Amino acid sequence: MKTKITKMIRPNCLGFEPYVAGKPVETIKRELGLKTVIKLASNENPLGPSKKALKAIKDNMNKIFFYPDSNSYELKKNLSQRYRLPTGNIFTAAGGDEIIELVAKLFFNREDEIVISKHSFVRYGMAARLMDSKAVIVPMKNGFVHDLKAMAKACTKKTKAVFVTNPNNPTGTYNTKKELTEFLKSLPLNQFGVKPLVILDEAYYEYALVEKNYPDGLTFLKDNPNLIVFRTFSKIYALAGLRVGYGFADECIVDYIERTRPPFNVNLIAQAAAVASLKDNEQVKKGQKLIKKEKEYIYKEFEKLGIEYIESAANFILFNVSPLKGKEFFPLLLKEGVIVRAMDEYELYDWVRVTVGLRKENEIFIKKLKKVLKK
Ligand SMILES: Cc1ncc(COP(=O)(O)O)c(C=O)c1O
Repeated sequence: MKTKITKMIRPNCLGFEPYVAGKPVETIKRELGLKTVIKLASNENPLGPSKKALKAIKDNMNKIFFYPDSNSYELKKNLSQRYRLPTGNIFTAAGGDEIIELVAKLFFNREDEIVISKHSFVRYGMAARLMDSKAVIVPMKNGFVHDLKAMAKACTKKTKAVFVTNPNNPTGTYNTKKELTEFLKSLPLNQFGVKPLVILDEAYYEYALVEKNYPDGLTFLKDNPNLIVFRTFSKIYALAGLRVGYGFADECIVDYIERTRPPFNVNLIAQAAAVASLKDNEQVKKGQKLIKKEKEYIYKEFEKLGIEYIESAANFILFNVSPLKGKEFFPLLLKEGVIVRAMDEYELYDWVRVTVGLRKENEIFIKKLKKVLKK
């Protein structure tokens, strides 16, 4: 219902479209009266969290009447040891999503320009809009890869930040070490006499590590005080439900993020589970191995069916369902009990993104795909 109250809402927030989250399995079962439903829609890790994380969750349950450590001391200490960077260069938040918003609230102003690649994570554009900044959208190279040269060229005196997703969601493509090095060097100075911020989103970093020439964003920090790298415990660590992410940046940026973020933004259970997850490298390796093998399986099946797909460095694959539109294909597969993701919000109308699951799930996905496409 529209009331006069809406007159007080900041004009840039009027008509704001909410983020469309993948529906949970239970909701779909209830809505469609289905007994079994598999969710391959939100790039979660089907192996689930490390046993060490589950134990930490149980062990900390009786402590939740306390507020969490607002400074995530243990978590930062463990990240510092793992990535060999001082804790003063590390911040934590309630997922990568909160990190995007924290950075936007700290830096983005009205009429600042924020350079974003077309077909990259929708939350960047939303963050720019929330702050009344201008999103400058740069087309991709070969249709599906960040065009870093064009993105650098799109920077003007007004550019405050550039978002780079490596590997990118939803295309699964990545930029190489050479490309990223040249990009960081080539950025022009803005009206503040500095290079724009580069917000490097490495949500799928651990999956991409097995790829040739995939760059570790942290290696660029020393020479680029304008760089913010962030990652998450939602993907390979399988803690999406707990909401915890972390970032690395120059001390000065971290200091200001700490000043402006909400207190206690990473909950007590999330901190404990994240610390424990960092101590279980075997689980990470298992996740990497599973996804590599299962991507090969799905690629082969796509090839047999003559379905076009984009090779992915992450745990999801983008595939083409034309002559159907993604929007038409999605409900057909949903009726068969498989949740995937149509890509309209990414302006990829003929494409659908499937998260790579366990073999059993992937087999069901392929079987239902054949049925729906009558292949
Ligand atoms: C590229 C990218 N960045 C960030 C996120 C945010 O993840 P989270 O908030 O769960 O850490 C996602 C989630 O899907 C993503 O795909």
